[in-house]
Amino acid sequence: MGQCKSCNAWNTLVEEILERPSTESSWSSDATVPSNKALPLSDVHRHEQDRRPTHDKELDRVLGGGLVPGSLVLLGGEPGIGKSTLLLQVALLQGEKVLYVSGEESAQQIRMRAERIGLHGPGCHVLTEVSTRKILQAAEQLKPDMLIVDSIQTSHNPQLDSAPGSISQIREAAAEFLRYAKSRHVPVILVGHITKDGHLAGPKVLEHMVDVVLQFEGDRHHLFRMLRALKNRFGSTQELGIYQMDGKGLQGVANPSGLLLGQREEGLSGSAVGIPSEGMQPLLVEVQALVSSAVYGTPQRSCTGFDTRRLNMLLAVLEKRCGFRLGAKDVFLNVTGGLRVEDPALDLAVCAAILSSNADIPIPHGMAFAAEVGLGGEIRPVHRMEQRMNEAGKLGFDTVFCAKQSGIKAGIHHGVNVVPVQRMEALVAALFG
Ligand code: TYD
Ligand code: MG
Repeated sequence: MGQCKSCNAWNTLVEEILERPSTESSWSSDATVPSNKALPLSDVHRHEQDRRPTHDKELDRVLGGGLVPGSLVLLGGEPGIGKSTLLLQVALLQGEKVLYVSGEESAQQIRMRAERIGLHGPGCHVLTEVSTRKILQAAEQLKPDMLIVDSIQTSHNPQLDSAPGSISQIREAAAEFLRYAKSRHVPVILVGHITKDGHLAGPKVLEHMVDVVLQFEGDRHHLFRMLRALKNRFGSTQELGIYQMDGKGLQGVANPSGLLLGQREEGLSGSAVGIPSEGMQPLLVEVQALVSSAVYGTPQRSCTGFDTRRLNMLLAVLEKRCGFRLGAKDVFLNVTGGLRVEDPALDLAVCAAILSSNADIPIPHGMAFAAEVGLGGEIRPVHRMEQRMNEAGKLGFDTVFCAKQSGIKAGIHHGVNVVPVQRMEALVAALFG
């Protein structure tokens, strides 16, 4: 049927397999899951020690210490970003048995990639298969300690008539892997494709079903790839893992700030260094702004690595509170290295870069900025200032601008001269006199 009988909409029907009703009452029909009793919370056992490290430092940090057995993890990312490479690397790093299932590449291709990565992985088994039934049969035979499926969009259940990659197929396949993970107590990692607008392809319910959603992002042409947790039932979603793709696969980056700032040129206007803290680790990143008279009627605003709406807000603050005429200017903003920053602590560096480009006066090389900017033009404190100052000091910076309300007194802390400022006007005065 093409039309829904109740709402008359066309092509909205989705196929579902109905389970045969069991003889037991419907409350306890699911035979694969042992029936549970209600328990006082204090009687519930904790399985903290169960968390198994993956031996990939960045991934472990993002996951919150490793994979929890029986958990279902979804790794999303654009094509070519390195999802398959990352998971093959993880499979090769394990001492135990891992089943790496690929529906997208041949076993030879996987072998060649493994050789390129240069790890031998004694326990890594590969299977090229798309039928969920056969994948799970193979897993039942091999009894791996970890199952990796690349990708959920290519896996399908032949019993369903709908095409692989359709909503009902994705949901059904994910449900089967979820049942496998929970009943066999094995972590399962699924690769998920991303649609053009950056969302995970497939039904939203997929994200609800899994325990962890990881996102692999970054520009294919840039240095860095970032791994974030969008959802994590076992840990925080604050941590950021940073990788670099080279000829031998993905390498974790231990000192991203050093690498990011290594390419900075001295004496350029429109460049400022901010200290966002993604997760526990503060980073120093360079923000570049270009402010020029608009060629066309409507000025353009464009950002890479920063939220465009937030840029518009900061421009409005500079215009209204400090009297800069930016309304008729094109403004381009770039966070170098292909990093995407969410921490509002970058606000002050963004404003400084814009003002520096607008006035065509470079900001001294040893200066860094760490504060949020409010709608009233007030400069607001951000957390973890100690760590931020420390990181700036380690990388040879001599001055850090922060919010007056952060409670840090002017003077030398952690080897850097701290300049607390209360309002945008004060920053303008301090920078350009
Ligand atoms: P891939 O992991 O297949 O990405 P995804 O599964 O997310 O689509 O490929 C990532 C890209 O990285 C691929 O275009 C080739 C490149 N690459 C390297 O530069 N070095 C390497 O060692 C490997 C294995 C891949
Ligand atoms: Mg792939």
